[in-house]
Amino acid sequence: MTRIIAIAMQKGGVGKTTTAINLSAALTNFGQSVLAVDLDAQGNLTQHAGFDPEQLSPTIYDSLKAEVDGFESDAAHAIYETAEGFHLLPSQPELSLVEVSLINTLSRERVLSNILDGVSCNYDFVLIDCSPSLGLLVINALTAADSVLIPVQTDYLAARGAFMILSSIETVRRKKLNPTLQVEGILLTMADTRTLLAQDIQRAVNAQYGDGIHIFEPVIRRSVRFGESAAAGQSILAYDPNSPGTKAYLQIARSIMEGGNYG
Ligand SMILES: Nc1ncnc2c1ncn2[C@@H]1O[C@H](COP(=O)(O)OP(=O)(O)O)[C@@H](O)[C@H]1O
Ligand SMILES: [Mg+2]
Repeated sequence: MTRIIAIAMQKGGVGKTTTAINLSAALTNFGQSVLAVDLDAQGNLTQHAGFDPEQLSPTIYDSLKAEVDGFESDAAHAIYETAEGFHLLPSQPELSLVEVSLINTLSRERVLSNILDGVSCNYDFVLIDCSPSLGLLVINALTAADSVLIPVQTDYLAARGAFMILSSIETVRRKKLNPTLQVEGILLTMADTRTLLAQDIQRAVNAQYGDGIHIFEPVIRRSVRFGESAAAGQSILAYDPNSPGTKAYLQIARSIMEGGNYG
């Protein structure tokens, strides 16, 4: 059974892309077959996986464009093998144009779901790296996914509307776009020693949203290694195998494989 996980959070710079690449590498390390989908026009995941989003063709843009224009698309042509063994469905800058034309497309929330239907069966996991918004492409990701993993920068937790993404998830369920969509959990990122412990955050989230939402442990600590590995076009596992960041993402991958985090 394939598990499709959207990595989504409306704010930028919280560690979505970092989590997408490192979980892809970590799950691959455990023998899982993984497709990483770059659904952000900025193409950070594509770059981080070692490719140039300005140079690649075709990309997920072509698949979405074909669907918008009423053609059948075959995303298999737009899948590339990365140096670390997982597969990538990359993005390109024009993806932002597709989001606009999607608005007038029939079943506009289900376009990505249709595209992934043709390819996801080849994988144990499909991880979708979302853009920092609650726009139509993110709604497409939530519609296509089995569950959502929400990275939150620990500094941002207290901010007003920190968990607006949870409202979008609720809307997607309620509108029957994806009634069984689950929350995989909240992953606390860029933590430093001054930040609250996961248990404190769990208590605060429970108070606001009920008991159903899992907070992953360990939290991902702040480390310059993450930025360095991004610049090198590698996961942190490949860049610095013995780093705390590598160990943390391996543990998160393990707990995702073991499942049971669904509330
Ligand atoms: N745990 C971490 N510690 C330090 N820097 C991090 C960490 N996680 C991510 N970063 C860096 O923070 C920036 C934003 O992360 P990114 O994953 O691109 O966020 P998003 O995809 O949510 O916009 C990147 O430069 C990334 O290398
Ligand atoms: Mg990103």
